Amino acid sequence: MTASPRALITGGAGFIGSHLAERLLREGYKVRVLDNLTTGKTENLAAIAKDVELEVGDVRDQPFVDYAVRDCDVVFHEAAIVSVPYSVEQPQETHDVNLQGTLNVLQSARKRGVKRVVFACSAAVYGEEPTMPKRETMAPAPVAPYGVEKMASELYLGAWSALYGVETVSLRYFNVFGPRQDPKSAYSGVISIFVDRALRGTTPVIFGDGSQYRDFVYVDNVVEANFLAATRPGVSGRAYNVGCGAQTSLNDLLGMIGKAAGTTLTATYQPARAGDIHASLADITRARDELGYVPKVSVEEGLARLVAHVKRERAGAS
Ligand code: UD1
Repeated sequence: MTASPRALITGGAGFIGSHLAERLLREGYKVRVLDNLTTGKTENLAAIAKDVELEVGDVRDQPFVDYAVRDCDVVFHEAAIVSVPYSVEQPQETHDVNLQGTLNVLQSARKRGVKRVVFACSAAVYGEEPTMPKRETMAPAPVAPYGVEKMASELYLGAWSALYGVETVSLRYFNVFGPRQDPKSAYSGVISIFVDRALRGTTPVIFGDGSQYRDFVYVDNVVEANFLAATRPGVSGRAYNVGCGAQTSLNDLLGMIGKAAGTTLTATYQPARAGDIHASLADITRARDELGYVPKVSVEEGLARLVAHVKRERAGAS
């Protein structure tokens, strides 16, 4: 019998990372989490706390990353500052976390003999170029520091797979949503904010005219893509779109969330945010053909699950 594979998840106490931790445990992995608990929370790991090794520290701290990577076969690098407008305001900080942090992870992976690094990249690498849907063969054209940091990180991954024998896979996440995405900040993902407001009966704000659209993807689909990216042979050095392949405008999203929450949701409108792109839609053909990725949970189903989760959580808290 072979030993259980060991995984490190950076950002593993965060939204996506904590879902990934649960899945990897179910798949028989030994799981270690590196998280600085800035946006990640130990509560996100509550259900699996006894099975997960938690190392509290920062991806900007190279010796600490080195320590956290020890004995691991695979690293899932999810730790990041995820907000596009925040990167417009604080580009040095997001550079240090999002790009230097990735370089630190790659250096440790090389030094410690990690077999594969799977990276949480972003659709933001495509920027405003108007051709839809986005394919991985298109030239990247990020408009905000966040997208630049994610693209530069991905280029580093390519170099690591070509030069140092560390297998790397870059997953270009589109707009991920689901339970544990924190709605509390102005920088939070739009679905988390709108669901929170729908269930509180307060009014959401749309920045712009609401015609901008995104390819929203439920977190379980993203976890599945990560699992495939870690286990499929012959995919090193590749980048894959991870979306649903369906576009939803913010105006349509209001109606869909209203329906899932059993309410009528209307928004107020404010000027568009700096650094925002208008449109984003994935072509997921490459991920399907090479990884076997199929987004099993639709946007509607994901919204229904998220609303049910938030309702349960609030019922439990009161
Ligand atoms: C999101 C992710 C980013 C990811 C990228 C991939 C977050 C916070 N950002 O960026 O990490 O890499 O997708 O495509 O998860 N909006 C409103 N009202 C609000 C909040 C947002 O109208 O209260 C609008 C924004 O102006 C934007 C759209 O909703 O037009 C989506 O914004 P947001 O959820 O922040 O995501 P992205 O910027 O697309």
